[in-house]
Amino acid sequence: MSDIATLQVNGESYEFPLVKGSENETAIDIKSLRTATGGVITLDAGFKNTGSCKSAITFLNGEEGTLRYRGYSIEELAEKADFLEVAFLLIFGELPTAEQLEKFHSDIKEQSIVDEDIKKIIDAFPKNAHPMGVLSSLTSALVAFNPTSVNVDSEEEMYNSIVKIMGKFPVLVAWAMRKKQGLPLNYGSKSLDYVENVLKMMFEKPNEDYEINPIVKNALDKLLILHADHEQNCSTSTVRVVGSSHAGLFASLSAGISALWGPLHGGANQAVLEMLGAIEEDGGDTKKYMAKAKDKEDPFRLMGFGHRVYKNFDPRATIIKVAADEVLGDLGIEDPILDIAKGLEQEALNDPYFVDRKLYPNVDFYSGIIYRAMGIPTEMFTVMFALGRLPGWIAQWKEMRLGKEPIGRPRQVYVGEKSRPFVAVEKR
Ligand code: ACO
Repeated sequence: MSDIATLQVNGESYEFPLVKGSENETAIDIKSLRTATGGVITLDAGFKNTGSCKSAITFLNGEEGTLRYRGYSIEELAEKADFLEVAFLLIFGELPTAEQLEKFHSDIKEQSIVDEDIKKIIDAFPKNAHPMGVLSSLTSALVAFNPTSVNVDSEEEMYNSIVKIMGKFPVLVAWAMRKKQGLPLNYGSKSLDYVENVLKMMFEKPNEDYEINPIVKNALDKLLILHADHEQNCSTSTVRVVGSSHAGLFASLSAGISALWGPLHGGANQAVLEMLGAIEEDGGDTKKYMAKAKDKEDPFRLMGFGHRVYKNFDPRATIIKVAADEVLGDLGIEDPILDIAKGLEQEALNDPYFVDRKLYPNVDFYSGIIYRAMGIPTEMFTVMFALGRLPGWIAQWKEMRLGKEPIGRPRQVYVGEKSRPFVAVEKR
């Protein structure tokens, strides 16, 4: 096979090199297109066919339903690793030795407190503020309290920023929830592991010792691992583009959180539960909602179905479906919402509209059900996604900065008015 792509534009022929990835994916390197052709660019709304970078972090094959972090399958990682090991793997490229993991964890623990003045910012939010907005704002605010985190000229400075945010982010996550619930803002304990501390900070009541439920802890570890990275999705691309202006890690993450918030991305897990709740309230008629989803005049979409890249099945959904059954079984929870979810899933899997368009349940279809069983409020679901995605965002930002990538700045095809003279207001 030739390693050259030939493009004909206005009768002229141009050659561009093909770039091969380690899994044989092929891209046409069009770096020289605009210069060579005297101004021609490519147009690809939604970047459906555009690679924005070369990356060695996550591999996914949407057709085959494969997902790997640094070469390790998501199935194996979800079964055998814990979240902090996976975070280390994503950020530094290799699974940590016991010593490396110990050091990483202890450096993070050193940073697991935030400035007391952050509480004043939280106090200023209305009680009904969405926790994703609160989290994005607080992550951005952290820059002011940690000004040295912006400067990442050396690997040491970069490492310090990374352990700072890994330590402080779960505190912000827990506080965003606790504030809404009127609970005192607390801290974790140095004796607990990373995920145990997340649970303690979220659920500890002021009048009792919090006991970790191992079923809940394992399920959360798994959920966070499954969400930890997903190559160049909307929020990750946002983090990379914002970071490409050298805005700093925390500011880039804050932008990523905003991107994740939307219901077409991370916000889908909240939207799924709200949709299931609405169907239940409306009498549980799943067929009615299936019909709405298929009606092109109706804007309703079946939340938790479909994926931009997985056109076969979402491997995370397969793992999480099993985990959802286990958690609900172990905790002895019978949930009518789960019955509606199962009904919808069965109908969609057998409906030609969904089958023809390759619309399968995605990771968010099941994650909300587990979060609900854990006692996490619906509005916090996307925040939990952000907590899981944090190491992925960090790894992608680090790769972008160390790779000295240029500032992200796409072009456009202008379709507005041509040059015209200004008309004074009285003459319009
Ligand atoms: N319900 C009903 N129809 C759907 C759905 C859905 N959930 N998803 C896609 N379709 C239909 C579209 O109407 C379109 O039909 P058409 O070809 O007749 O016009 C076709 O399937 C293709 O859909 P697109 O929107 O072009 O697919 P795209 O890849 O751009 O979108 C997306 C993917 C945004 C995830 C979409 O499937 C969707 O909106 N799903 C619901 C929201 C959701 O669950 N998001 C979470 C994604 S996973 C994550 O972020 C972790």
